[in-house]
Amino acid sequence: MPLPKAELHLHIEGTLEPELAFELAARNGVTLPYADTDALREAYRFEDLQSFLDLYYELMAVLRTEQDFADLADAYLARAAAQGVRHAEIFFDPQAHLARGVAMGTVVEGLWRALGSSEARHGVSTRLIMCFLRDESAESALATLQAARPYLDRITGVGLDSAEVGHPPVKFREVYEAAAALGLRRVAHAGEEGPPEYITEALDVLGVERVDHGLRCMEDPALVERLVRERVPLTLCPLSNVRLRAVDTLADHPLPAMLDAGLLCTVNSDDPAYFGGYAGDNFAAVRETLHLGEDRLRELARNSFLASFLEDDEERRARYLAEVDAYEFGDAVS
Ligand code: ADE
Ligand code: ZN
Repeated sequence: MPLPKAELHLHIEGTLEPELAFELAARNGVTLPYADTDALREAYRFEDLQSFLDLYYELMAVLRTEQDFADLADAYLARAAAQGVRHAEIFFDPQAHLARGVAMGTVVEGLWRALGSSEARHGVSTRLIMCFLRDESAESALATLQAARPYLDRITGVGLDSAEVGHPPVKFREVYEAAAALGLRRVAHAGEEGPPEYITEALDVLGVERVDHGLRCMEDPALVERLVRERVPLTLCPLSNVRLRAVDTLADHPLPAMLDAGLLCTVNSDDPAYFGGYAGDNFAAVRETLHLGEDRLRELARNSFLASFLEDDEERRARYLAEVDAYEFGDAVS
């Protein structure tokens, strides 16, 4: 049995496996510029974040109908459940779909078709987090928040993703203020490729409650001290960091040093179809390569529930934490 965990950094569009991409392409009459799934997998060699994003946005062309989004999310939830995920806070990128003529309602209602039955079908509770693309304009982000207004009962929070460098958090001050006024929770990618200053800005200007990635905080001891003192959760994605070359190899990943420093770290999969593994695979990889002991793995699992947006259901959070505390580790991981 896998270790119970919450997944807090997961782009639903990044769960599009090659097989489903071709199935949806056939269903929707879309031609992909790859001969087959093997040829597509061959393209999964990334230099950096941008080279991944180019393919990530290209493949979204196959997502057209509510049922496509429902099938995508249901496939993710089944995989996540098999790897011990009990609660998933799921990012989606509406601007990438609106730009292709796919309406906000198609995306949200489609995802909801799967999320609404996730507890019954997979035993996974869920939340939805709508991300703004930071390489698009602040005006576009504001228009996206407006377009989401009819669906806010389905959306727990907002996030910020896509190409980081050159797009500092301050660009999105106004839309984060508007989101906060609407009662939405706030997170943002910061310190993946961008400098530690972006992490500070995300906290001070955008008022984020969690930092997605946050890896580069380790370059600034005063920032680390602050993140520890304020108990700011970081949603780390170790296999993603290797594939996008934020670290040279997994053995070089700063996760053990971050835990030793007292940071509230969590382990997540980011875009599992592209980066070689789902949540449990990430736990297995850090257990094996970074030699994390059972206490550390249990701490990571506890952190995932402590950092999750379950304030509206503390009873559930307590139940999940009790499952982690009662977990007995075996040889097979995660
Ligand atoms: N969109 C999907 N995955 C992302 C990542 N790792 N960083 C920024 N934007 C993303
Ligand atoms: Zn991400």
